[in-house]
Amino acid sequence: MQEDITVYVETEAGEKVALSLPTDMGLSLMEALKAHELEIMATCGGMALCATCHVELMESPELPEPSDDELYMLENLPNLRAGSRLSCQIKVTPDLDGAVLRLMANH
Ligand code: FES
Repeated sequence: MQEDITVYVETEAGEKVALSLPTDMGLSLMEALKAHELEIMATCGGMALCATCHVELMESPELPEPSDDELYMLENLPNLRAGSRLSCQIKVTPDLDGAVLRLMANH
């Protein structure tokens, strides 16, 4: 049974764009954002090596803690925020429903 969730992406103008994402395809959040043609480079293809998939989670349900590799990349970002995550390391699961995020690679 397919269950879609809704994730909101806040634009620079402060608007929230609602994205409907499928949870049964094993996608990472980065892949799902890319599929919606959002500006996210994801140069390393999801290996936690480039941080060009950096997002700030502004509102989010409890998610699994970042791995050491993800933490290492995040700690070296000049624009680190309290809710910073690498979107390639987050799976699109029902837990993510209602999350609000901002794309950070260009900030
Ligand atoms: S895509 Fe490179 S760190 Fe996420």
